[in-house]
Amino acid sequence: MNILVMGMGYVGITTALMLAESGWTVTGYDVDERKISSLKQGVVPFFEPGLDALLSQHLNSGQLHVTSSVKSAIKQNQVIFLCVGTPSLDDGSPDLKYIHSAAESIARYMQEYKLIVVKSTVPIGTNGRLTEWIASHQISAVPFDVVSNPEFLREGSALYDSLHPDRIVIGTDHKCAARQMRTIYNAINAPILITEPKTAEMIKYASNAFLATKISYMNELARLCDTLQIHIDDVAKGMGMDHRIGAHFLKAGIGYGGSCFPKDINALLNTASGHQHRLTILEQVVQVNNTQHAFYLDKWEEIVGGFRNKNVAVFGLSFKPDTDDLRESPSLSMISSLISKRASVKVHDPVAKLPAQLSSSPVEQCDSIDEAVTGADAIILCTDWNHYKYADWSRIHSLMKHPFLFDGKNALNRREMEVAGFHYFGIGQPY
Ligand code: UGA
Repeated sequence: MNILVMGMGYVGITTALMLAESGWTVTGYDVDERKISSLKQGVVPFFEPGLDALLSQHLNSGQLHVTSSVKSAIKQNQVIFLCVGTPSLDDGSPDLKYIHSAAESIARYMQEYKLIVVKSTVPIGTNGRLTEWIASHQISAVPFDVVSNPEFLREGSALYDSLHPDRIVIGTDHKCAARQMRTIYNAINAPILITEPKTAEMIKYASNAFLATKISYMNELARLCDTLQIHIDDVAKGMGMDHRIGAHFLKAGIGYGGSCFPKDINALLNTASGHQHRLTILEQVVQVNNTQHAFYLDKWEEIVGGFRNKNVAVFGLSFKPDTDDLRESPSLSMISSLISKRASVKVHDPVAKLPAQLSSSPVEQCDSIDEAVTGADAIILCTDWNHYKYADWSRIHSLMKHPFLFDGKNALNRREMEVAGFHYFGIGQPY
């Protein structure tokens, strides 16, 4: 079976590599010629551990090739994975223009049966509508199936998650399509759940929204823990030992970010309101997340006696470690708030770069930790890169003017930091 993956972004490249690893012959297509020429040279246009090496390996072995020629790619492949982006429109609903343009190409160039697998996160009901949409754009009636197959990989561990998923969800009403999907995933050892397309779409949104709910719940609880002088991480540990709760996604911090949780929750809220429903818990999840970084920044401002004219070193720009993705990164919100408090900000990140709109403001990106902390009055850790966990904190201390350390991810060990000489403050911790 030859498989085409349309859209060579995060999900697309990882999916193409997962399919190639599974033994299929895979073609990766993207409309962006620059991206394709970079991929042809084995260079992934974003930072994600492990992808470059596997890309080169599968390009060299001929298991994978990439192209910007859509017509032949569609003609030559029986299975098509749609992995194009679905960014948010101003009202929070997803923009389906890339889905529609991919579907239109498929409709135009298909000459025999196609299995169309939708990996992109799309509003509930889209798979059903896509079937009608493709049929109405076909030049002649050629049979096809549209299957929903949501993606659950995390940035930073995309390859591992794709090769070792907790489950594979397949939304289809057709037995034959379900059978083909089982064959495609034969090499992946994970339970397969076959549902209606609408249910599969809902599972994706409900899962992301639930994970975000866990985080906001812990973040709000952390605020109370501060006051009660209780360590939120100990609370999380005790809660997580209960299998009904689970140990993951209970880590308090300055809020969640990324291209998925904020966008998907907005989309789900939008779907609910479009059907005259309110998801009040989710509304509060967003509210807690939107206020978390400011809640802590205000607290820390009192501790340092105001950030005005203070030198603040911000550690971490990306929304999580092991990625250069800045989308909805809490670190950017933190930097903007520091600017409005008239602080002078130096930032460091192992890979991510300051976005253009912040580079022109009083923020300087430093190549080294030393440069960022020299003369600093405070450090705010915003991304829990290992880089910072294993930094030489005694040296950092020796370079600073005042040793205030605000750990926005509870990534560091308080005792070790105090031994190194810091006044250490975390999220939901006694002090
Ligand atoms: C998320 C989901 O975890 C994936 O299952 C899903 O496939 C993906 O969205 C998607 O829809 O494409 P991702 O956004 O890459 O993955 O990253 P996460 O590891 O989920 O982290 C999201 C945010 O939550 C980060 O800012 C992270 O720092 C924060 N987080 C995570 C916490 O603050 N506390 C935690 O305990 C866990």
